[in-house]
Amino acid sequence: MSVTNSMTSQIIPVEPFDCVVFGGTGDLAERKLLPALYHRQQEGQFTEPTRIIAASRSDMTDEAYREFAKAALTTHLKPGELNDEQLGRFLARLHYRRVDAMSDAGWPELASLLDEAPERIRAYYLAVSPSLFGEIASRLKNVGLVTPKARIIVEKPIGRDLASAKVLNDTIGAVFAEKRIFRIDHYLGKETVQNLMALRFANSLYEPLWSNDHIDHIEITVSETVGLEDRVTYYDKAGALRDMVQNHILQLLCLVAMEPPASTDADAVRDEKLKVLRSLKPIVNGHVADLTVRGQYRAGASATGAVKGYQEELGAESNTETFVAIKAEVSNWRWAGVPFYLRTGKRLTNRASEIVIAFKKVPHSIFDETAGKMFSNKLVIRLQPDEAVRQWIMIKDPGPGGMRLRHIALDMSFADAFKVRNPDAYERLLMDVIRGNQTLFMRRDEVEAAWTWIDPILASWASSGQPALPYMAGTWGPSSSIALIERDGRTWHEGF
Ligand code: BG6
Repeated sequence: MSVTNSMTSQIIPVEPFDCVVFGGTGDLAERKLLPALYHRQQEGQFTEPTRIIAASRSDMTDEAYREFAKAALTTHLKPGELNDEQLGRFLARLHYRRVDAMSDAGWPELASLLDEAPERIRAYYLAVSPSLFGEIASRLKNVGLVTPKARIIVEKPIGRDLASAKVLNDTIGAVFAEKRIFRIDHYLGKETVQNLMALRFANSLYEPLWSNDHIDHIEITVSETVGLEDRVTYYDKAGALRDMVQNHILQLLCLVAMEPPASTDADAVRDEKLKVLRSLKPIVNGHVADLTVRGQYRAGASATGAVKGYQEELGAESNTETFVAIKAEVSNWRWAGVPFYLRTGKRLTNRASEIVIAFKKVPHSIFDETAGKMFSNKLVIRLQPDEAVRQWIMIKDPGPGGMRLRHIALDMSFADAFKVRNPDAYERLLMDVIRGNQTLFMRRDEVEAAWTWIDPILASWASSGQPALPYMAGTWGPSSSIALIERDGRTWHEGF
C-alpha cells in the first residue's frame, strides 16, 4: 500500500532551559541523551540561551567534557548527521560540574552556575542509580535549586517491587510535586507507539472492532538479540520480568486496551491506562505455573556468530530469567475472554517488537476446500526495527483457474513512506519535559499498579524454587512458551 506523502515535520521551539544531567559521563548520557539533544538543536527546537550541564563525580573541566561529548556524538550519530557548525554550537552550550551525590561537595558550584538564570526552566535528569534519587532530590532542595520551573526526570527501575517503588516515589515526592516528576518509559516515546493512539482514535475503522466481539487474542512481543551487555550488576538483580514487562510491555498493553480518553491531556490518558492496569486479572500462586514461562539462554548462535550462555557471560551461577512469556487477562467488559499473550527475551532469533491484534475468524466459510486455508485477519503494529503497520487480509489469488484464497499483508511502512528521519524516543521525551507535557510519562499510581500485578508472579517464582527453563541463544525461547499459546489452539504470529 502506498501512503500519500504530504508530511512536513513541524518544529515548535521550546523555551530556553538548563538541563542538568546527573550521571553526565555515564552510558545513558553518552548513547542517548547527548545525541538526542544534539538532534533537537540541529532541527531548530532550542531557543537561546539553552545550556546543558553535566554533573558527576569525575574530575573534569568544561573543556574535557566537551571532548567527551564530541567523542560520544561521533560514535553514536549516523554518518552525515554531525556537522561542524552545529557541533560547535552544541559544544559551546555544554558545561560540567563535579558534584558528589552523597556529600556537599560541588553543590555550591553547581548552584552558582544555575543561579545565573534563576527564572529559566530547569530539568534535572537523574541518569544515575535509583539508590541516589533520594540523595540528589534532597540536596537539590537544600541548596535551593528547586525553583518554580524546576522538574525532575527519573529512569526505571522505579523500585524492584511495590514496597520499594512506594519508598522511591515518596522520596522524590517529598521534594517535587507529581506535576514536576517525569518518569521515563522510553517505549512511550517510540514513533509507532504514538501511532497506536492515532490508529485507534483518529480512525473510525478500527475502534468499532476493538473488543471481545471481534478480537480473538492479542500478542505483544519484544524480542532482542542482545545478551547481558555490560549490565551485569543491574540485570542479574532485575531479570526480564522487572526489566521489560513491569514497564515497557505493560505500557504497550495499556495503550492497546485502554478506553478512548476524553482528550490527549496527560491525566485523561493516564487515568485510562491506570484502569487497564487495575483490571489485569491477578496471576496468583496456583496459576503462575500455567500462565507464565520463565527462561534463561544457554550458549547458541546469533546473527554475528556463536554466543555464550547467560551464566557464562555473567561469570557466576544464576537463576535470573532472560525470557518471560505470560498469558494475561484484562478483566473488564471490553476484554473479557480475550487473552493477551506477552513475551520478551534476550538472545532470541530476531530483534523485533510488535503488537498483533488477531481478529476472530469468519463465522462461516462459503468457500470449499479447493480455495485453501482460511486465515483470520491480523493487524500487526511493528515498533522496531522497521516501523510499520500491516493489515493481514484474505484475497483471491489473482488469475483464472478458480477461487483460491491467499493471506496477504497491506503494508503501511512509515519509514519508507515518509522520507523524514525517525527521531529517537529520547528526543521527543526530553522536549516534552521542557514543555511540561506529562502524557508520555508514567504517573505514580500507574507504576504502583503495575507492581501490584507483577509482585505475586515474582513471589510465586521465588517460592517455587524452580530453575528458569533453558533455551538456546538464537531461538524463540523455551518450548513451553510455544505451548503456552498452542494449548489454546493458537500460534505466535510469525513473519511480520
Ligand atoms: C531497556 C531495558 O529499558 O530497554 C533493556 O533495560 C532493553 O534491557 C532495552 O535492552 C530495549 O530498548 P529498545 O529501545 O532497544 O527496544
